[in-house]
Amino acid sequence: MTTWLTYSMTALVVVLAGTALFFFTMTRGALLMRGAMGQLTHEAAHVYPIYSNMRLIRFVDYQPVIAAILLFQYSRLVSIITHGINQMDLRGKQALITSCAFGNVMPRVVEAAVKSGADKVVVADIIKNELDHAQRKLTQYGGQTVYVQDNAIGLKQPDASVSANVMFFLLHELPHHLKGEALKEAIRVLQPGGKLFLGEFHKPRSWVLRALSWTYFKVFEPYGLALWNTHDPVEMLHAMPGVTCERHVVFFGNFQVVVATKAS
Ligand SMILES: C[S@@+](CC[C@H](N)C(=O)[O-])C[C@H]1O[C@@H](n2cnc3c(N)ncnc32)[C@H](O)[C@@H]1O
Repeated sequence: MTTWLTYSMTALVVVLAGTALFFFTMTRGALLMRGAMGQLTHEAAHVYPIYSNMRLIRFVDYQPVIAAILLFQYSRLVSIITHGINQMDLRGKQALITSCAFGNVMPRVVEAAVKSGADKVVVADIIKNELDHAQRKLTQYGGQTVYVQDNAIGLKQPDASVSANVMFFLLHELPHHLKGEALKEAIRVLQPGGKLFLGEFHKPRSWVLRALSWTYFKVFEPYGLALWNTHDPVEMLHAMPGVTCERHVVFFGNFQVVVATKAS
């Protein structure tokens, strides 16, 4: 019995350590490596290999894995966004997804937008492989979706051209000086009365979660912690003329969905 328990515990530790090492190598580790090699100048240099290499994209993009990374709050966060889109009248209008994301957020957002009447949903991402992968997940909406290789900090989309814009866990991956740029772009492309739905991490209320989250960001996602203080999305959005925001926090404040509305 003791031997069995020892083997099981050892196996668990090896699996957890292996998973942590894999994600470290494919996220922060890759950024450190690029920095050391002087390769952080390209516009997509901040993008982790798990979002650019097609094999890695396919390997990681499993709903249970993605749900676990977001502490099983994934579905709840997406539901807040789709509920908001369901309340909108998007007849004859366009929606935008600014950057692809793993899991079923994209099919759920496109379904909600189409049900609310949207003519077209534009999917914009800086990485072509992510767009190709997204297209495979959205085959049933082939007639209503358009895929554009684009940078969230300088979108090709004209001013005031979309009524709903979804940005799901992009901000915490952007270098700090690009976070505000991405938010400005997200608002620029919104029509008056349009809404930006932003899913992100948030500073947890409980100190235990805060300590765990802090460690997670320090190890894996160096650009994430700033959302807790210097780069709070609500503060950045409120500083823009004519933008009002509501913030929904979930799971002891660990995550947030910000709904920002551009004045009509
Ligand atoms: C939205 S974030 C991560 C989401 C979250 N971790 C998940 O998958 O559930 C990852 C995506 O953002 C894209 N991305 C990163 N920087 C971008 C930028 N400046 N403009 C557009 N897309 C960007 C990446 O190519 C990738 O597809």
